[in-house]
Amino acid sequence: SGSSSAEKEVIVLGTSADYAPYEFHKKIDGKDTIVGFDIEIAKAIAADLGAELKIEDMDFDGLLMALGSDKVDFVISGLTPTEERKKNVDFTDIYYYAEQAVLVREGEDTALKSIDDLSGKQV
Ligand code: ARG
Repeated sequence: SGSSSAEKEVIVLGTSADYAPYEFHKKIDGKDTIVGFDIEIAKAIAADLGAELKIEDMDFDGLLMALGSDKVDFVISGLTPTEERKKNVDFTDIYYYAEQAVLVREGEDTALKSIDDLSGKQV
């Protein structure tokens, strides 16, 4: 879109900003702002296209519908590609795999049976 050629193309991201650290609301200089890992990816895509990024924040359950009805141009929202979803939308390659764990001292892992076992144990 855009009437003059000098105008930047606008690309619209659909996201559900309730999922830190991927997309969430944060007050920055007193202003409600949507930030996160996914938002940085969206910004990089927009920059790469020389486009202006507009963010449409909505219910997670409405994202696929918004994409299908052209309300948004793309969706980044911590979305897992499932067979069911693949029936209606195309997914890119996976951009993030998580494999992270809590660390404890050697030998202490067997002593940890619940979250309570982690508290008050410092020397
Ligand atoms: N990965 C899960 C899924 O695809 C949860 C994603 C939730 N994302 C969000 N922005 N609330 O269903």
